[in-house]
Amino acid sequence: MSLTVWKNLRLAPTANPSEMIADACLVVENDRIAWLGAAADLPSKYQQPDKTHDLGGRIVTPGLVDCHTHLVYGSNRAREFAMRLAGASYTEIAQQGGGIVSTVNATRTLSEDQLYEQALRRLDALMAEGVTAIEIKSGYGLDLETEAKALRVARRLAQARPVTISTTFLGAHALPHEYAGRADDYIDLVCQTMMPKLAAEGLIDAVDVFCEHIAFNLEQSERVFQAAHALGLPVKMHAEQMSNMGGSVLASSYRALSTDHLEYLDEAGIKAMKAAGTVAVLLPGAYYFLRETQLPPVDLLRKHGVPIAISTDSNPGTSPCTSLLLMLNMGSTLFRLSVPEVLAGVTQHAAKALGHPNVTGQLAVNHKADFVAWDIEDLSELVYWMGLPRCAVVVRHGAISIDNRKPE
Ligand code: NIG
Ligand code: FE
Repeated sequence: MSLTVWKNLRLAPTANPSEMIADACLVVENDRIAWLGAAADLPSKYQQPDKTHDLGGRIVTPGLVDCHTHLVYGSNRAREFAMRLAGASYTEIAQQGGGIVSTVNATRTLSEDQLYEQALRRLDALMAEGVTAIEIKSGYGLDLETEAKALRVARRLAQARPVTISTTFLGAHALPHEYAGRADDYIDLVCQTMMPKLAAEGLIDAVDVFCEHIAFNLEQSERVFQAAHALGLPVKMHAEQMSNMGGSVLASSYRALSTDHLEYLDEAGIKAMKAAGTVAVLLPGAYYFLRETQLPPVDLLRKHGVPIAISTDSNPGTSPCTSLLLMLNMGSTLFRLSVPEVLAGVTQHAAKALGHPNVTGQLAVNHKADFVAWDIEDLSELVYWMGLPRCAVVVRHGAISIDNRKPE
């Protein structure tokens, strides 16, 4: 057993500015939090730890959680971006065989090592800003071999870096060209072959589906959910991104961890999500990059008390973003979320969206010791700056993973 006391910190256990504890201590036993509170109240049994770290009065928050990413993919789509700037729409490009399918071709072609190297750079960029837990979806393979390759890469990334990675199988992301006109047959492949095999290899923590007119309909989405539930896997959905398909109501009926995007979500979907405990994951990067104008129904989500998470949606087509802090700025500027709302959105609500609200995402006794000490005067600076590095120290599972402090 190893006991460490972190002292001289301004502690925001839930990342909420109103709950800050001045001159706090955090006691870590191995990889978990044993105690936290005002330094003056530190129990005597913790006064002779194995190690003490002084954080110099820095603000400390939970480690950040990025709960929706497509981090493993081949190449990029900068050329399509240029086409969109010249007037083509995302849907038009997808219908002409570009879009997701063009990334699928690149992802199938690359070796596992090449995919790993490309994804690692993006992971490192996210981690440099204090991300300690992240979700990674498959969905750019769309055949058994490549979906397995991408999920294995996600597992390898978790071995290579001090970060918690949750994998999500998104086989139902788009229709691969070899199944053109046969979407139901592809869903059979997803449900009857890919999902059970990948689950048996321990590669799947959750299952996602893209429910949209350019992807899969409600009935196909439900078949994916049924197959997931038969394997005991939790579900989530890319829902109401471009139109209201009623996906959130369906996903809630399967007790989805989250529904994500949600610009076209209506009150019926919100009520269903509230009843099911489903988190609303908002993705300001995709909203911005697609130049969407329909705002997600933030006021209605607030009215019904649905927890809101914020994530990068890091992907080559709609959000080539590797900065969760930038998403805080965009979430507040574009979606009019408050500072406490966006901070909850990348900590406790994001952890809930990943299905482990009692493990990470807030600093509490018995939770994993995942936290970040920041070089800021006020928590609102995490939302305010657009690109200034502010991360001083990152601790993940009790161990320092990043230390940017200047030597004294
Ligand atoms: O989350 N909406 C579907 N999937 C991704 C986009 C994928 C792509 O265009 O490559 C998203 O926005
Ligand atoms: Fe996405």
